[in-house]
Amino acid sequence: MTDPLPALRPWSAPEITSWGRLPMNAVDRRAGAHSLDGDWRFQLLSAPDAPVGGAWSTTVVPGVWTMQDTDDPLRSTVDLPQYLNIRMPYTEFPPLSPVDDNPTGVYEREIDIPADWTARRIVLQVGAAESVLLVHVDGRPVGISKDSHLAADFDLSDAVRPGGRHTLRLTVVKWSDASHIEDQDHWWHGGITRSVLLYATDPLHLADVTVRASRDGALVVDCRVRDAGGALPEGWYVSGELDGLALTQDTEFDRANAEDERVSVFLGEARLRARVPEVRAWTAETPELYGLTVRLHRADGSVADTSRHRVGFRDVEIVGRDLLVNGERIYIRGVNRHDFHPLTGRTVSYDDMRADLVLLKRFGFNAIRTAHYPGDPTLYDLADELGFYVVDEADIESHDHAHEIADDPRYLNAFVDRVSRMVLRDKNHPSVIIWSLGNESDYGANHDAAAGWVRRHDATRPLQYEGAAKRGWADPDLASDIACPMYAPLEDCVAHALSGEQTKPLIQCEYSHAMGNSNGTLADHWAAIEATPGLQGGFIWEFWDHGILQSVNDGRPVGRGGAGLYDNGVAAPGYRWAYGGDFGEKDHDGAFIADGVVFPDRTPKPVMYEHRELAAPVRLELFRHEGLVVSNHQHFRGLEWLAGAWELALADGRTLTAPAELPSLLPGETAMVPLPLALPEDGGEAWLTLRVTIAEDLAWAPRGTEVCAPQVLLREAEVAVSAVSAEEPPVSGGGVEVDEEGLLVHPLLTAAPTLSLWRAPTDNDELGGMALRWRTWGLDSLVRKVVSVRRDGDSVTVLAQYAGTTGVVRHEQVFTPVEGGVRIDELAELPEEFDDVARVGTVFETVAGLDRVQWFGQGPWESYPDRSGGAPVGHHALPVDELFTPYLRPQESGGRHGVRRFTLSGPGTTGLTVTPDEPRQVSVTRYRAEDLTACAHHDELVPRAGCVVHLDAAHRGLGTASCGPDTFPSYLVAPGVHRWSWSLRTL
Ligand code: GAL
Ligand code: MG
Repeated sequence: MTDPLPALRPWSAPEITSWGRLPMNAVDRRAGAHSLDGDWRFQLLSAPDAPVGGAWSTTVVPGVWTMQDTDDPLRSTVDLPQYLNIRMPYTEFPPLSPVDDNPTGVYEREIDIPADWTARRIVLQVGAAESVLLVHVDGRPVGISKDSHLAADFDLSDAVRPGGRHTLRLTVVKWSDASHIEDQDHWWHGGITRSVLLYATDPLHLADVTVRASRDGALVVDCRVRDAGGALPEGWYVSGELDGLALTQDTEFDRANAEDERVSVFLGEARLRARVPEVRAWTAETPELYGLTVRLHRADGSVADTSRHRVGFRDVEIVGRDLLVNGERIYIRGVNRHDFHPLTGRTVSYDDMRADLVLLKRFGFNAIRTAHYPGDPTLYDLADELGFYVVDEADIESHDHAHEIADDPRYLNAFVDRVSRMVLRDKNHPSVIIWSLGNESDYGANHDAAAGWVRRHDATRPLQYEGAAKRGWADPDLASDIACPMYAPLEDCVAHALSGEQTKPLIQCEYSHAMGNSNGTLADHWAAIEATPGLQGGFIWEFWDHGILQSVNDGRPVGRGGAGLYDNGVAAPGYRWAYGGDFGEKDHDGAFIADGVVFPDRTPKPVMYEHRELAAPVRLELFRHEGLVVSNHQHFRGLEWLAGAWELALADGRTLTAPAELPSLLPGETAMVPLPLALPEDGGEAWLTLRVTIAEDLAWAPRGTEVCAPQVLLREAEVAVSAVSAEEPPVSGGGVEVDEEGLLVHPLLTAAPTLSLWRAPTDNDELGGMALRWRTWGLDSLVRKVVSVRRDGDSVTVLAQYAGTTGVVRHEQVFTPVEGGVRIDELAELPEEFDDVARVGTVFETVAGLDRVQWFGQGPWESYPDRSGGAPVGHHALPVDELFTPYLRPQESGGRHGVRRFTLSGPGTTGLTVTPDEPRQVSVTRYRAEDLTACAHHDELVPRAGCVVHLDAAHRGLGTASCGPDTFPSYLVAPGVHRWSWSLRTL
């Protein structure tokens, strides 16, 4: 007999979403289940029709074959990861996919059915397989399913024998009609990505449990009971208990449903209720959970089935244009999170998920959008437990063929199936506050059908869909309760909120694209959000840089064995973080896959520190120089969980400290506190920082973890350029040596200070088109020509021209000897056509051996003019090598904003101190801009022995133009005259 499953050709039949797949529900069967994870026999075929051979290799489940044993000689096809953003990896139109080139994994193993599962209902659960799963037991067809990011359960009761041993085969076909609605912007993989389980229930079992718990303590639990045999015996009942509190049967509900209160589950439904006195409500700040146990009893009272849930009492509602949690208008400090791991691709463990969330918590995030498909069930458990608001997004993105598919009736079933299954699975999680219909799939009848299902099934949560919202942020008829644009210009958001037309909360589903050195203007966004009623935040795109650990030698993904081959964001020598194109893909979208706020090993990028500060629970303001105003910026809790310490940084090098007592403040309250330290008469510029840490160990951070460090300026610098002011008398006879080219000769410099208008383009500079303009103007290869060298007493004035291809910059340097060194007064005049350059400043290079930098200014993290929050002014010190941020594709990196003074030093070497006239943008790295520009991957960079130092009079903001708005005009570098001064002294 031919196998009916392949004969159906389900991989090109969108109408077939599943066959034999059980309905989704919220009864968690993981506890007590038998894990089938581990080694399976495996074959990789070139197409689903290709014959299964006799030779098997072994692979680990869960896992993706695109990253596991990719050099396995038994594979009849090589299938490595491929990165494409929008374009499908093949040209077939939906619902078709390649016929001959369609990698298909055949997984096989024996399963032993416990003998005591006699008369039980035996169920197989495949956590996730992409994209089509066919199931056979002993060669008999059992089921089909699609949706690469939801589990599929199959009833094996008729196919297996308790006490018996059977062969389970899972065939996973990579390309299908479903791939066209799984066209999310990440790596394409193939395999079984989540755990496989076997569990058993009584034939009469809890088929679903729906929990509603509101902040007033009211709990309603609806239970659905089903008999696999189709009949429901009399006398069975359900009971419930919440942390020792017994739930009561809602007889009204029973009567209405069954018309006989004795047979409460006669029609398979029962409702339980409780009211919890003095309930501790759930919020992301206060993730209070209660344990609920629901039991199905036989007529004799014995327990036939048990379902355990963790309940959070909370309300979500939209009132007017505000999204409220427990009646409070919250801010959404969100991030978009994909399933990703540099060694396992799409398979993420409990520890991985927990580490993601813990890190986000430590950096002030309170919300996650599960971009762009439902996560592993564990993710939601962790979100409930650690405290996150979740936008739960269905696995639908048809980006490349969005318009065709949104109204294609062949896909109707798939849309409703994917959305409804997600809702049925996740409805009991307090963390899930919003449902999302998917991403970038245009807007059509298929969406409205899915939206209709959700609204009917779960009226307790809002629904969002960007594709609908973009038809009109205030349109009441669309399938989105939230105006959830992506990358909307901030001014448009503010204008909408002020227009009087706003009807829905405005929460961007994606904003602040984190590709490379990015996230400029994040602070401006938050200033506007906090100042503008109607704006409630958004989700940064995205959490991960999806770099896959790759061996440079053989080009293969390293896979599971790679633990320890990376550290601090950097791959070990001989390895690199692969992005699009690195696996030899013909079609790819390059480094667009590296656009997260963390590196592929989860090392936070500098923007995380700014985010942490923007999310600070405690804020500080100066009150008329007499005292301080401390405020509690949380929504739901006091400051008891926090501790503080004062730190006063003085320009003269001192840092004074004092213990801090945080005032007792309710959410939103403020208090005046006296200045904690007497400000010394001398010492110059003075900055007071409140270092706020966690007072007691928490689930997501140990005691002492810094949460924020708000800072106020207590005293401004008296004289802007005390060290180099024009009043400072030149040291006569000090002598300044310049060569015939007018270049400074200095024993510690290997390249004299010259003018720089160029930076190694960031991803934003490249994709936003700025870099192209800069290259067209020739700013990357300005040709310097000395015009004159004039001595005037002890000073030397050098005039030079820097010629680009379309304009000439006039540059003047006046060198004046000062105590211990030289002062340099500079002027650059940019022609009008250079109306938006990367920087105007000085660059020079030092001798080797100066390996340490100490500075007074913002730090210690990297900062730029439009991304400078979260880096308090103080005295910082780091090895030169650690100043550089290892963005996957080398680009401008390592800058520090607001630098007032810095010293380069090394053991046994004379050091250098540079003092600019005012706080300036500075970078000290091992790389010239051209070194960075010439390399495609971090591992290709060859560090120079000395330091490359940039000191900028002006530096362009970073913006987010790789996907979204550029920086604001106030952060651009204008043409015309720029002046700056600085001194260079030896120690
Ligand atoms: C959005 C999309 C994301 C991602 C991002 C750019 O348009 O929803 O999936 O592609 O842009 O990185
Ligand atoms: Mg897309």
